[in-house]
Amino acid sequence: MKKLDAPEKVIFICDGKKCGHYSKELRKGFRIELKECGLKKEVDVVRMTCTDNCKHAPVISIQPKNIWMGEVEEKQISRIIKDYFS
Ligand code: FES
Repeated sequence: MKKLDAPEKVIFICDGKKCGHYSKELRKGFRIELKECGLKKEVDVVRMTCTDNCKHAPVISIQPKNIWMGEVEEKQISRIIKDYFS
């Protein structure tokens, strides 16, 4: 087994059937904001499959803090990064 290098912090963004309508823009927005904040190497942005929280789409999960958020909007990305990664 080979251990891979990966950031300890991850923002999982649902790419399921319902959240998928927003996930591309959210992923892009989080990546841009993380880069601008100098956190690109510390925090990874990863797609996840549906977690049955579809009524709250789009859903994200911040790990390892195990924070889950629904109805996330692009305009909130900056605030989320500041609140959970600064
Ligand atoms: S599609 Fe995102 S929680 Fe189901």
